[in-house]
Amino acid sequence: MCGIVGYLGKKDSVPIILDGLHRLEYRGYDSAGIAVMEEGEIQFIKNAGKVSDLSRLIDDSVLKGSIGIGHTRWATHGEPNTVNSHPHFDRTGKIGIIHNGIIENYNSIKEVLLNKGFDFKSETDTEVLVQLISEIYYSDGLSFEQAVQSALNQVVGAYGIVAFCSDEPNKLVAARHGSPLVFGIGDDEYFIASDASPIVEHTRKVIYLDEGEIITITQSGYEIRSIINDNIINKISTEIELSIDEIEKGEFPHHMLKEIHDQVHTITDTMRGRIDPSDGSAHLGGIAEQIDRIKNAHRIYITACGTSWHAGLMGKYLIEEYARIPVHVEYASEFRYRNPIINSKTVVIAISQSGETADTLAAIKKAKEFGALTVGICNVVGSTIARETDCGVYTHAGPEIGVASTKAFTSQVAVLFLLSLCFRKDNGPTGKNFSEALFNIGEQVKQILKNSDSIKDVANATFNSDNFLYLGRGMNFPVALEGALKLKEISYIHAEGYPAAEMKHGPIALIDEKMPVVFIASNDETYAKVLSNIQEVKARNGIVITLTDHVSNEIKKISDFIIEVPKSRHPRIFPILASISLQLLAYELAVLRECNIDRPRNLAKSVTVE
Ligand code: AGP
Repeated sequence: MCGIVGYLGKKDSVPIILDGLHRLEYRGYDSAGIAVMEEGEIQFIKNAGKVSDLSRLIDDSVLKGSIGIGHTRWATHGEPNTVNSHPHFDRTGKIGIIHNGIIENYNSIKEVLLNKGFDFKSETDTEVLVQLISEIYYSDGLSFEQAVQSALNQVVGAYGIVAFCSDEPNKLVAARHGSPLVFGIGDDEYFIASDASPIVEHTRKVIYLDEGEIITITQSGYEIRSIINDNIINKISTEIELSIDEIEKGEFPHHMLKEIHDQVHTITDTMRGRIDPSDGSAHLGGIAEQIDRIKNAHRIYITACGTSWHAGLMGKYLIEEYARIPVHVEYASEFRYRNPIINSKTVVIAISQSGETADTLAAIKKAKEFGALTVGICNVVGSTIARETDCGVYTHAGPEIGVASTKAFTSQVAVLFLLSLCFRKDNGPTGKNFSEALFNIGEQVKQILKNSDSIKDVANATFNSDNFLYLGRGMNFPVALEGALKLKEISYIHAEGYPAAEMKHGPIALIDEKMPVVFIASNDETYAKVLSNIQEVKARNGIVITLTDHVSNEIKKISDFIIEVPKSRHPRIFPILASISLQLLAYELAVLRECNIDRPRNLAKSVTVE
């Protein structure tokens, strides 16, 4: 949530920061702002709206400076207007700050400052922080970085910040606690950002700041210290693997559509080098050292949020089927505040595309406190969850920019399948046929993308609907949940996913001639049962949309629309293909409703606050 970027070097920081903000806009897009410093003078422009709106304002200005900070906001405290947008400044106007996170005790700090005569322009917690820094800086005789550090030691909450002060020009101070920061080292220039995407076109040399670290950056170098005890921390830089092409949308109108198309190769990329499709044996280097402990676990918890949680539900089916270890799947936001029955014989798998989700991170911390082994499944390399877990597996789906998760989801499912093979006992099912089919899924994904006319027909007929129901059985139940979530997120149509048989226990009351009901009907032991559920909806005049890999005469008769899912060599492939068809359906509906597909309202790609 919120994207932050800072630059210190010899070039004009404005275009560098603006480009960076465009790349970070998926993190928040309520408002944006930029402040630069040149010869000890600060200038800034900020505005409610998108980075492109800010860009237009900047085009008409003379903003220029070799040191700068920029922010794109996802509002927490205070509505998304220009006053509340970042950067925020202290009362002297000499200290500027950008912030990602929440200062939880901002009210009590604000009260103290109000009593000392401070006044506040915005409703934000961030302005309270910058005024606190100012109060310390101008009364305690500390250096700017010491003042920032001292203020941070008084705040409770989460932050990634970058700040500067015109009394100490040519210096940036950044710190993290709960919100990620990547520091880029170029030739005579430095970058700091929420993730590597604004940095990659300038340098590949980066340092990931860890929790509780503060960095002071000047033209002559940088120094990292601990916020709490002031110890100097020596860190080795690493090379980013990200490429520019991966973060551009190329010829596609939206990142989401590109990412749906990427699934032609991403699932195979996830599996490459980790599976021997000839015998179904899997090897995951990231968990190899812990494999005996995992195989002997009494139970596994999978914890995650949103789409990653849906992948976790699919993982339950896979791990229980192949490894025969009981699996519980829990929302991280619930898990973190419960008293779960976990101990050293428990494995807690945390799934997160971004690797930064606050609730998932807190769930891992809880699991560790109870002595469980934690395993991370993350997409973003070097992310906090990837580093905080005892061991883990990257999904290698490539950067996912669209706020609605697509390719990360199918790669998470692929990783969960690989894990289920690694966890299996010698006498369990081998998974050979499934691995072979999953490794070669790309051709079927291509077919879905090529034959998308039926999906467009459904979208054309239903885009004015107010509600949708998604129903599926077995592993198609999480597919139903995920299909409904995709639709809600990007088209703002209310949608619910249910186990098909549960319909009779309530949702059937909603069925009338205006209600589209999406059935996910695979050609397996559940097919006949789902057919009966379709009949029940048909009898009540619902609009039946059936996704199936078996177009029988009967299903043709009772369906208003059929979306054919390519046949596959293993029954477990169907749910993955069906979820890709549903991603496309949500996309087409959102296009017709003229929604902002890559940046749906109120959402942010990585949810780093509770
Ligand atoms: C997915 O389409 C959503 N944007 C959202 O539910 C997301 O999956 C959730 O916030 C979890 O994110 P994570 O995978 O980065 O932890």
